[in-house]
Amino acid sequence: MYTSKITGTGHYVPENIVTNDDLSKLMDTNDAWIQERTGIQERRHIKKGDGNSTSIMGVKASKMALKNASLVPKDIDMIIFATLSPDMYFPGGGVQVQEMMGMRTVPALDVRNQCSGFVYALSVADQFIRTGMYQHILVIGSENHSGGLDFTTRSRNVSVIFGDGAGAVVLSRNGEENSGILSTHLHSEGKHKDELSLQGPSTDYWVPEIIADNPQENIPYYPYMNGQFVFKHAVVRFAEVIKEGLAANGLEASDIDMLIPHQANLRISQFVQKKFRLRDDQVFNNIQKYGNTTAASIPIALSEAVEKGKINKDDVVVLAAFGSGFTWGSVIIKW
Ligand code: ACO
Repeated sequence: MYTSKITGTGHYVPENIVTNDDLSKLMDTNDAWIQERTGIQERRHIKKGDGNSTSIMGVKASKMALKNASLVPKDIDMIIFATLSPDMYFPGGGVQVQEMMGMRTVPALDVRNQCSGFVYALSVADQFIRTGMYQHILVIGSENHSGGLDFTTRSRNVSVIFGDGAGAVVLSRNGEENSGILSTHLHSEGKHKDELSLQGPSTDYWVPEIIADNPQENIPYYPYMNGQFVFKHAVVRFAEVIKEGLAANGLEASDIDMLIPHQANLRISQFVQKKFRLRDDQVFNNIQKYGNTTAASIPIALSEAVEKGKINKDDVVVLAAFGSGFTWGSVIIKW
């Protein structure tokens, strides 16, 4: 049986930096509140006219990943694109990447699993490689949140958290034993779907109904988050799914060389770090600079960690995510 390994990583974030002070000019918030609750100092937002979109950022991150894998677009056998903010309601971002990068008519699949989107996408890619069906799969996480957020005081608990950006990896057939992706672990609990959600547009809440509603009073087309409820579930599920992944491979927390948690909130990452008694150099966080970029957060962080030389051959790398759905998962890698 084949196994898979990450052979290239890449990321892209828009140039436009939005600080907490910038947000405090738009809504009743302040730098101290945001930093204390989330650790976020600034985030990147696409600027109208800067030539970016979810799929375009995905292409930029993918070009870097392909270059680092020493591959060209025609080598790619499949595209998996994780996002909750596609350029179009349909079709998804994968086909746009296929077109913009001049790829063969390879399959393009979009994954709609919010903060766990990249972990789910990587797990799907791993399965296609394990069966021997494909050799190189491009896995992308990209988000343009800023275009869909409400930057007024009524949505301040949500809109200060999220940022824009993209990350990508090339997952390739692995020629070495006991290396690459060792296992993936996925879960969901739909009974909490409303706690972090965006209702419309959807077939439950279609565009004419949205237009008919008073947008000032009824704003189902902006995300809703029950922050404390999400926090409480996130810290439990992160810990569970990391433990599950370690146990499946006979590993202990002390074997982790690098944990890359979904960048939900620095407090959540710190809670998990403490729970597993990990040193600062065993956990990679960049939420301070980019905010929460949902499906893009893990591949951006992974790409930065690789770029900074923080991940070395044979390191045990753990990716873990939790998010809307609720959905959560982990990926255990021997680099
Ligand atoms: N600036 C200033 N005050 C604010 C802001 C803000 N941006 N947002 C909320 N407040 C106020 C509220 O209005 C409330 O005021 P009140 O007491 O007068 O009513 C007060 O702060 C407390 O509000 P809470 O929503 O209870 O704030 P909390 O302390 O829970 O912090 C936060 C909110 C940061 C969202 C927190 O709940 C959290 O970290 N939750 C985890 C959710 C998370 O990380 N989500 C990320 C996306 S999901 C994911 O990626 C897994």
